[in-house]
Amino acid sequence: MILVTGATGNAGGALVRTLAGAGAEVRALVRRQVDLPAELAIGDLNDPESVAGALAGVRGVFLLSGYDRMAETLAAIARAGVQHVVLLSASAAEAADLGNPVSKYHVESEALVRESGVPWTILRPRTFMSNTLRWADQLRSGNVVREAFPDVAVATVDPLDIAAVAAASLLEKGHDGQVYGLTGPAALRPADRVRILGEALGRELRFEGLSDDEARAQLLAGMPEAYAEAFFGFFARGELDESAVLPTVLQVTGRPPRTFEEWAAANAKAFG
Ligand SMILES: NC(=O)c1ccc[n+]([C@@H]2O[C@H](COP(=O)([O-])OP(=O)(O)OC[C@H]3O[C@@H](n4cnc5c(N)ncnc54)[C@H](OP(=O)(O)O)[C@@H]3O)[C@@H](O)[C@H]2O)c1
Repeated sequence: MILVTGATGNAGGALVRTLAGAGAEVRALVRRQVDLPAELAIGDLNDPESVAGALAGVRGVFLLSGYDRMAETLAAIARAGVQHVVLLSASAAEAADLGNPVSKYHVESEALVRESGVPWTILRPRTFMSNTLRWADQLRSGNVVREAFPDVAVATVDPLDIAAVAAASLLEKGHDGQVYGLTGPAALRPADRVRILGEALGRELRFEGLSDDEARAQLLAGMPEAYAEAFFGFFARGELDESAVLPTVLQVTGRPPRTFEEWAAANAKAFG
């Protein structure tokens, strides 16, 4: 049995479907009743006792980074005899600047996993292709996408590839102690993604870059101020470079990472 946390989200949801499709037994830790191809366990990542209650018969755990009392959660995972933890971290952990709160929570989560005594694999994906879903509201009312950091190219990764690497790490041998940086096959600026999405939707989309002040306001609308400032540092001040294309998805899964064209075609309906 594999326990997947974040199972209603982009990465965890893709993993539930990938594992179920591979015929693995899957349990999803969820905060409310939902429809998933998995057994459900109601729990909260900020409540280690609730995670402990979901661990009977579990041999592998897919764990999100940055929740409260994570040392206690990992102690419960170790006590339950779990054989492997896959941590969903981020490239922010490579920035390793503990003054940046996003880097800090990923660095600290990684350290706790390494110290847990449970064999582990750490995933450090770059920005997810699915973040593009945030454009859906703008595209319902017109053909203009206004987005922050127009000059920043990111080797954005499809959550399906994160799931494929996580599934391989949980189901196969040979991934203990590995830290996998995960990217897609190309570094794309927002304008590139707008062009590719427009082609998938059959619409003439136009891109407008936000000013730094507008970018800050956009970030602040979606997250606490400290995190907004952290992402501003990453991408406006260049404290994080996600432009390098890495071979990891190909090396782990045996097939090239999915393109943004594939993601856009598969998710076109969400922009209708
Ligand atoms: N998005 C990116 O570009 C990116 C890049 C690198 C790393 N990451 C990492 O990947 C993680 C997942 O990203 P995503 O796009 O898959 O996120 P997402 O779609 O927003 O999903 C978040 C998931 O976490 C669950 N969750 C939130 N708080 C919880 C809690 N207290 N207890 C249990 N479950 C809880 C949510 O469940 P509910 O349905 O109950 O809310 C949901 O299933 C991020 O949090 C980040 O650490 C993301």
